[in-house]
Amino acid sequence: MTTLSPRDLLAPKGRPEPKPGTYYIQTWGCQMNEEDSEQMALYLEDLGFSPVSSVWEAQIVLLNTCSVRKKPEDKAFSLMGELRSLKRYNPDMVLGVCGCMAQTRANEIRHRNPHVDFVLGTGDLALLPGLVTESLQTRRFRKRTELPERKGKVVTDIPRRHVGRTAKLKAFVPIQYGCDKFCTYCIVPSTRGRERSRPTVEILEEIQKLADLGTKEITLLGQTVNSYGKNLLEGNVPFAQLLWKISEIPGIERIRYTSPYPRDFSQELVETIRDCPAVMENVHLPIQSGDDEVLREMRRVYTVESFKEIATRIRETVPGVTFSTDIIVGFPGETEAQFESTCQAVRDIRFDAAFTFAYSTRPGTPAGDREDQIPREEKLRRLAHLIEVQNDITRDINVAYVGQELEVLFDSASPKWPGTIQGYSREFKLVQVQGSEDRIGRIAKVKVTESHLWGFSGTLV
Ligand code: SAH
Ligand code: SF4
Ligand code: F3S
Repeated sequence: MTTLSPRDLLAPKGRPEPKPGTYYIQTWGCQMNEEDSEQMALYLEDLGFSPVSSVWEAQIVLLNTCSVRKKPEDKAFSLMGELRSLKRYNPDMVLGVCGCMAQTRANEIRHRNPHVDFVLGTGDLALLPGLVTESLQTRRFRKRTELPERKGKVVTDIPRRHVGRTAKLKAFVPIQYGCDKFCTYCIVPSTRGRERSRPTVEILEEIQKLADLGTKEITLLGQTVNSYGKNLLEGNVPFAQLLWKISEIPGIERIRYTSPYPRDFSQELVETIRDCPAVMENVHLPIQSGDDEVLREMRRVYTVESFKEIATRIRETVPGVTFSTDIIVGFPGETEAQFESTCQAVRDIRFDAAFTFAYSTRPGTPAGDREDQIPREEKLRRLAHLIEVQNDITRDINVAYVGQELEVLFDSASPKWPGTIQGYSREFKLVQVQGSEDRIGRIAKVKVTESHLWGFSGTLV
């Protein structure tokens, strides 16, 4: 799904005409949201709608929003505003706002945007077809807001899943919804509700169907994915055993999962990464801060030392394993010395990659209500510095791969260089080679010839 800037909406010359029976979905946020958008697309396709590549053509426009930081919220509000004039030009358009902002800011969305036809929270995507149908019939008279009650319901509000009919090489499969960790900076527990695990049988059935269609790589999704099965339903298995069961499905060659929570990384899981052939040798392990005091204030229940111990244990058990992480800088009250501790932890642990964020104040969260917020310029300065620290490490780690052979699952033609294809290695490094497109969808060995910040160039072995 492409990112559309509000500027793209200003009437260009030769703007396409609206086409009845079409839809366009704009997605912000995490893979869970990307996956929800796919589910929404499948529901719309069941109703007979087909996708179009621009918002001007679409009859149904859905905005699947994210609340994790202020920026994606601002973008969604700005696009909603722009769509008001588009709706004047195309009065048959149905506009739905879905996702995490819909769940927590429905009233504000309604108030600021009377042209929105319906607001649908994150609870039950199966309500979408009804909302769309009703909006098509009655939109001039009635607006609907659906925020399915989700608190406390452990099993009943696990959404039904819809497997498409077309083949996908790589697929995302949610195995757990919501989050029970309540990190003090984070909005997700409010937008996604309490932690619920999907039944094991249902997950396996879905992956079996995907494998039958040709899927080779599965990424399991959950906010604290390794606590899967904590609220055990009868017949559910713990996370490590789930990985084994998935690996037994013929056709599934690779399994990833995101994001595990550091404290809940069991020894059984570490050994499964080593022993289960399909599980990739890459762990995304969010540290968030490298300072114990800040971690405590974030309500992350581990220390820098215990985090390092887990990383060391994984490294000692799983040869060649790589790590990525998430880090927030400028948490309220973070001192220069505490920020420096984070930089030091990054240097000590040597992650292969880090997703770094300037802390974004989320109203209604404990940290959002604090008065000792760090000024924006200071957060951005820390962010730029941390990115430099990490980039040096990434470059340095990657140089050592030159001359090695990696196993790559090719997934696409390289967008930049004609005649080249790309894919990810088992260590989750992006690798690009000269090669024909018939190799896409297959795994091959590549010898690394050049290292970059983004990954490797290489030659087919
Ligand atoms: N459940 C996952 C993270 C989901 S949100 C986990 O705990 O690892 C993805 C990332 O966004 C988080 O890891 C965190 O680094 C970042 N994030 C969450 N809330 C944020 C905020 N208020 N400001 C900046 N970054 C935030
Ligand atoms: Fe947010 Fe923390 Fe839950 Fe991750 S574990 S979703 S950061 S509350
Ligand atoms: Fe994902 Fe953003 Fe919601 S990160 S869970 S879409 S708040």
